[in-house]
Amino acid sequence: MHSGKARAYTNIALIKYWGKADQAFILPMNNSLSLTLDAFYTETEVVFSEDYTEDRFYLDGHLQDAKATEKISMFLDLVRQKADSKLFAKVASRNFVPTAAGLASSASGLAALAGAAAEALDLSLTPQELSRLARRGSGSACRSIYGGFAEWQKGDSDETSYAEAIPSEGFAEELSMIFVVVNDQQKDISSRDGMQRTVETSAFYQGWLDTVPTDLSKAKKAIQKKDFQALGEVTEASALKMHGTTLAAQPPFTYWSAESMKAMSLVRQLRQEGLPCYFTMDAGPNVKVLVQKTHEKQVLQKLAEQFSREQLIVAHAGPAIQILPKEERT
Ligand code: ADP
Ligand code: DP6
Ligand code: CO
Repeated sequence: MHSGKARAYTNIALIKYWGKADQAFILPMNNSLSLTLDAFYTETEVVFSEDYTEDRFYLDGHLQDAKATEKISMFLDLVRQKADSKLFAKVASRNFVPTAAGLASSASGLAALAGAAAEALDLSLTPQELSRLARRGSGSACRSIYGGFAEWQKGDSDETSYAEAIPSEGFAEELSMIFVVVNDQQKDISSRDGMQRTVETSAFYQGWLDTVPTDLSKAKKAIQKKDFQALGEVTEASALKMHGTTLAAQPPFTYWSAESMKAMSLVRQLRQEGLPCYFTMDAGPNVKVLVQKTHEKQVLQKLAEQFSREQLIVAHAGPAIQILPKEERT
């Protein structure tokens, strides 16, 4: 029996990943930049054994159906191939984040699965190799290998596409991200399907791609200079441009709901009142508000006037993936 367990934290992109150049290898069209967070994470245990006759996948205590298990099996095949193993596995995962709601469960979920499976089969991967492996499960997962800020270098092959940590000399630790959870149910259009439809059909897609390099360098400069306003402005701009592309897709779609717009308007209003804060959104209706820790309480208080306290979750910079020691395994 070979077992491994890992805990990985979600990350939210400030400069978004939106579109694949290669579906099979999950090579992205553009670099992206994220902040790993402490409030949402996944814990996954993988056990490979000669006793098993098939892969089994439990999520939050429930045995998953054939379709969900097939996705896990395809990912485990990559790990088995690397380890030259033919063993089947039992995967037991717990999401401390709503699943498939635009709160980045695929980032923490696939990073934790990669870490646990690699540990179980003794692959001893470097962070860069683990990032590449996690990428094969879900693009955004390659960034959850690191704590704080990370940049996914798009590369042009399996070997050259991975994330790296961006050191920030404490700047990441000065930030908060307040999640406005307007809907924690599973979204209709997965990130994967949404971005593919956009790349294939959106007249605005090229416009998105053209502006990413400038936005990315603005974001990196802002991190270097610890310039919150510059980072916030480019974060909000990147999200708006990404979401703009979906409106011109065929058929068109949007991840925004009326509640998302209410949260975004409020953030703009707070800014006008002199409170520095900026929003971002992913493939789902939930809004994330980037704010300095020094203004966290004030912004939270203002948000609480329009949303219930249960809808508001405060996160700070989170740690790198953790491979849990044998004694902590259940
Ligand atoms: P999200 O916004 O939550 O990242 P996605 O559409 O990108 O939504 O991905 C959701 C998919 O991620 C799920 O349908 C499932 O396939 C996968 N996923 C989520 N959590 C886990 C987990 N803990 N273990 C394995 N796969 C997971
Ligand atoms: C909008 O990584 O979930 O959250 O690679 O197909 O699994 P797959 O998609 P995923 O896409 C995330 C898209 C995003 C932006 C981001 O996280 O960079
Ligand atoms: Co995802």
